[in-house]
Amino acid sequence: MRKSLNVIYQYILKPFFFLFDPELVHDLITFVGKTIAVIPGGQKLTRRFLRYENPILEQTIHGIHFTNPVGLSAGFDKDCNLPTILPDVGFGFMQVGSVTLKPYTGNPKPRLFRLKKSLGIVVYYGLKNIGVDKIIEKFMKMNVDNQFPISMSVAKTNSKDTCDTQQGIEDYTECLEKLVINDVGDFYTINISCPNTFGGEPFTTPVRLTKLLKSISAVKTDKPIFVKMPINMPWLDFKKLIEVCIKYRMTGVIIGNLNKDHKSSTIKDSIPEHIKGGISGKPTEALSNDLIAKTYLEYGSRLTIIGVGGIFSAQDAYEKIKRGASLVQLITGMIFMGPQLIGDINRGLSKLLVADGYTNISQAVGSYYHSSK
Ligand SMILES: Cc1cc2nc3c(=O)[nH]c(=O)nc-3n(C[C@H](O)[C@H](O)[C@H](O)COP(=O)(O)O)c2cc1C
Repeated sequence: MRKSLNVIYQYILKPFFFLFDPELVHDLITFVGKTIAVIPGGQKLTRRFLRYENPILEQTIHGIHFTNPVGLSAGFDKDCNLPTILPDVGFGFMQVGSVTLKPYTGNPKPRLFRLKKSLGIVVYYGLKNIGVDKIIEKFMKMNVDNQFPISMSVAKTNSKDTCDTQQGIEDYTECLEKLVINDVGDFYTINISCPNTFGGEPFTTPVRLTKLLKSISAVKTDKPIFVKMPINMPWLDFKKLIEVCIKYRMTGVIIGNLNKDHKSSTIKDSIPEHIKGGISGKPTEALSNDLIAKTYLEYGSRLTIIGVGGIFSAQDAYEKIKRGASLVQLITGMIFMGPQLIGDINRGLSKLLVADGYTNISQAVGSYYHSSK
């Protein structure tokens, strides 16, 4: 069955989807996912075909139980439509958003471009989302499986009004406070690295990040808070941001966001000058892997790492785990390989762990740098 699903996706569904605008396909898939979740038996059937379970993949991290380490990364479910179907697809957790204090319709369309040769997507959404109030309202009406951790990804409203540092900080903080007060989400992510916004990425300097995290850490919550990091920074600059995260007792970092360099050697398609946006998928992989390893080696005892970028197989996910990621996330791999990829990764990871002599995935985290198992 697994092999048939792969063949159906590669030879029928993907060629069909790739005939249309990526955002249109994304909206269609979201609609299908939402619909399956409410059709009687829809979740059960999806689970039967797609989800893979194995106790070797289970971990409890900062008090949260993860049935497997593979999460949906921020940006696929911006408006909180899919929390009830994603556990059945096979994910171990997800990120909703990025969510902002005020709604925003996003940058002008078209704002997604496939890079078929490079196995990536140029993303120019500009933090489109329905805003935190509506997301809270929607989430509270949903019957979400309490075995399925959800992280709410918080970003700064994309508007000229939030370009000023202080206004930006207040915007982030108020958005987080609303989620905390309403007890929405199992953990939070502060996204400081969205490239497609008014004013760019102001909080990727140590001075401004200090101000932001000072305000964020004053929000009273027992839930873990992660910071979503940029990946186009030299290590010495990146490291300064990591130190600010540690100073303000962030639980961990997500490494990382989109690749902003259109001239990256991993990009095999020619991208016309007028196309703006960050690049996902394979062009992020090496940058992210390198930063995961360096962060783990120097700060692994103080920060939990979630690894993201270019995961298209169990081997790709395992590489991030062995470099120090406790959990992984993806989007683009699923678009290029199909929804059965999540089960395939979990199945493959289980085999890789057994082959390496581990009895639980947590033993493999950072294993490249452990002297013994
Ligand atoms: C369509 C799309 C929208 C995205 N939107 C967000 C977002 O709102 N917030 C965020 O933190 N990252 C966003 N990202 C970045 C992803 O979460 C992820 O970090 C990046 O795509 C690398 O993972 P991948 O190669 O598995 O796609 C987006 C990515 C894609 C493809």
